[in-house]
Amino acid sequence: MWTRFLNGSLFSVDSPAFYKQNAERYGDLVSFLTPNGFRQFQFNHPDLIAEMLVRDAGHHLRGVVLERARGILGDGLLTSEEPLHLRQRRLCQPAFHRARLAAYGGEIVRLTREMTAAWPNPVADPAGTRIEAHAEMVRLTLRITSRCLLGADVNDAVQTFVDSMQVFNDYLPFALLPGARFLERLPLGPMPGMRRALAALDDLIFGMIRQRRASGIFGDDLLGMLLEAEDSEGFMSDRQVRDEALTILLAGHETTANALTFALWQVAKHSDIQARMRAEIDTVCPDRLPLASDFRSLGYLERVFAESMRLYPPAWVVARTAREDYTMASGQRIPKGAHLIASQVVAHHDPRWWPDPMRFDPERFTEAAKATRPKFAYFPFGGGARYCIGEGFAWMEGVLMLATVLQQWELSLPKPQQAELPITPKFTLRPTHEVEILTTPREYGSPLRGQASATQSSGCPVHCSHTAMTGERRSRSSEAPQPEVVLAAET
Ligand code: HEM
Repeated sequence: MWTRFLNGSLFSVDSPAFYKQNAERYGDLVSFLTPNGFRQFQFNHPDLIAEMLVRDAGHHLRGVVLERARGILGDGLLTSEEPLHLRQRRLCQPAFHRARLAAYGGEIVRLTREMTAAWPNPVADPAGTRIEAHAEMVRLTLRITSRCLLGADVNDAVQTFVDSMQVFNDYLPFALLPGARFLERLPLGPMPGMRRALAALDDLIFGMIRQRRASGIFGDDLLGMLLEAEDSEGFMSDRQVRDEALTILLAGHETTANALTFALWQVAKHSDIQARMRAEIDTVCPDRLPLASDFRSLGYLERVFAESMRLYPPAWVVARTAREDYTMASGQRIPKGAHLIASQVVAHHDPRWWPDPMRFDPERFTEAAKATRPKFAYFPFGGGARYCIGEGFAWMEGVLMLATVLQQWELSLPKPQQAELPITPKFTLRPTHEVEILTTPREYGSPLRGQASATQSSGCPVHCSHTAMTGERRSRSSEAPQPEVVLAAET
């Protein structure tokens, strides 16, 4: 392991590319001073990442970005420290148990179908019409998370969330500036927008809490569990419930929307992989919608989703701050206050575990292939006591969304096809621009068999593009029969 001091000008290129370059040049453990004087350790070997996230977790606090995100999320699960975190994690955990996930499956499929039912009319745009996949996935994941966990549909408030995420992404770099705590009190930079965004989200969440209390029925979703929870310190305050609910909504939709967008883009790009996915879907659910219980049988879809999160990990870095001096198993001394980071982009693109790392290949995730790699060569959901509470939820959402879409639609990319999807590292890894995907109803195979004539003619991509750009969304009409799939009851 090499330790190197890097100069400040190199550090200013703070991005996945910077961390990848560090790993390539300096090896598994890189240590440097940040421009604002903090010692930072970057762990690039899976064994060191395991030490950081699991073995040494007790020596750490949240990293600086999450510490500053407390200004938005309050003391929710993502940002809180012990002992509050452990208490809250235990309270929230039942909402993510396997039995609950099975119940969410129906909602995931239903809302995905509602989304695709509004995709443009296949008769008017027979060659395939453009959708903006990221906007679609943001709306879908927000609705799924809010319906399943908070018992409310935020469909009418999606723009509030989209605007707020934009403001928060601008706020976080500002919050890391020296003297930010003072600057935050002034109406400077992103602060006015930040206050407005927080007020709008607070209205929404406190409104949900008031409504639930007024109904007198708590219900068995996460919001109900939070409102009903009582321990030696009494019931949770509305403020604490707000922090947890907002955290779940933001953490639950942002990363997942990005993950699903990247996956749709990869599927649209690789027609051979798409055909294999569709063959699996047609075998598992030939004449009905996918069910939560199909999840385990859709192994190839799961591998595609896994490979997409390898190449484009929505959470691209995990960070901690040392709360005390300690020594790692390797003998490396970590001083109190040091910043520690492990980047998913670095580990997921490391050619030692991923030959030809930029190639998209779902076969990397067969059981046999997985057994050849160290555990933390792949950690899209983090690890240790702070690993993602929504991991099971996200897998279910990814696989069932892909199954529901591909059961009915062919996806492709507009020409000329981009070799790579431009990505920008913000708080999460996000698409840089709109992500355009062409959707065409399936002509052959279930469930559109026999409806091919409705979709055959020469289409006009320019017109389709115009339709998408002007935001016109036509519902299907009686001229364009909506392909029907039998809705089977979950057993
Ligand atoms: C593909 C989708 C997702 C990805 C890639 C992802 C990634 C992550 C990662 C890497 C962490 C660990 C952060 C750290 O250690 O500092 C995390 C934590 C967390 N995630 Fe996710 N997540 C996803 C989906 C979800 C969903 C669907 C939910 C909720 C519905 C959720 C809620 C949370 C919460 C509450 C935490 C904090 C857990 C704790 O500290 O106890 N995430 N996520």
